[in-house]
Amino acid sequence: MHDKIGVLKYFMKPQQYDTYPIKWNEIFGNKRKIYVEIGFGSGEYMTALAKSNPDINFIGFETSLTALYKAQINFHKNNIKNARVIQGDARLLIRELFPSNSISKLIVNFPCPWPKKRHKERRIFITSFINTLADVLKKGGTIELATDVDWYAQEVYENFSNSEFFETQDIIKNFNRPIKTKYELKWDNEGRNKYLLIAKKLKSFKIKRVLEGVSELPHKNIKDIDIEKLKSLKDKTFKDNNITFTVSSVYEDLLNDRFLLRVVSTDDDFMQQYYISIYKKTNDWLVKLDSTTIPYRTPAVKYTVYKIAELIEK
Ligand SMILES: C[S@@+](CC[C@H](N)C(=O)[O-])C[C@H]1O[C@@H](n2cnc3c(N)ncnc32)[C@H](O)[C@@H]1O
Repeated sequence: MHDKIGVLKYFMKPQQYDTYPIKWNEIFGNKRKIYVEIGFGSGEYMTALAKSNPDINFIGFETSLTALYKAQINFHKNNIKNARVIQGDARLLIRELFPSNSISKLIVNFPCPWPKKRHKERRIFITSFINTLADVLKKGGTIELATDVDWYAQEVYENFSNSEFFETQDIIKNFNRPIKTKYELKWDNEGRNKYLLIAKKLKSFKIKRVLEGVSELPHKNIKDIDIEKLKSLKDKTFKDNNITFTVSSVYEDLLNDRFLLRVVSTDDDFMQQYYISIYKKTNDWLVKLDSTTIPYRTPAVKYTVYKIAELIEK
């Protein structure tokens, strides 16, 4: 059994913040350099790096909850103080959570190359993310990609070489770094080739962010609601420029004058799922984000709350 509080201290929930991008010096209590790792798996690479570089702050992104859990246990066992982890798609969150020119190094070890053409957009180094890196990396900052897939190394090499914001070094075949990741050990044992690609940021690009500045918790009081209109929202989609939302379910608790709407919304490529709660107060009704799900309060989330309030008001 692990000391759960000790383990959880590494886990950040930036959805709960009200100002973006994050002020990293306040999180770490210092202004040290920032290294970011995407898809850290069990976290052995980040643990070893953080341990041997206490003067650098590390932030890791993972989509897998199991990986997040394992990495935090690793940090805790090694008494790591200079690391944090965040759950979600790093390509979108790095854009939203880091100010321009703030990251010194980005590390990606043995990512899935998503070989099928229809999954191409799931690859890490797509053009939109390379442009994000041209904003958030410091000038002279680097990206390091290790992979066992030759065509993928070549593809990423070309993507960075074709970007006016980066310069690339030649791919290093069968590199030898002092720390090996879990996948690296596995591929080494199988005798696979591996490739290391390093690209350096030359000049900056200003990326468009979805969240920026202060973001209040959206809510709206309305005098009365039209229950039939509310129920008819199920499976309806609403659009406003680059924003969409769909109400996928409507749950009702008539005994308590309370409704819960499950919503999926998008701001361009940023998709989130959450609940909107609608309940009776003494003199009126309140439409607000339900506290069981905590989305990033993007323009689509705010639009959803205000549009639903407008649509159901009697
Ligand atoms: C093949 S594993 C490699 C793990 C580790 N780096 C290693 O070398 O052993 C890739 C990891 O990347 C994570 N991942 C994939 N896409 C991601 C994304 N867009 N953002 C954050 N993590 C991602 C997956 O959950 C998975 O744990």
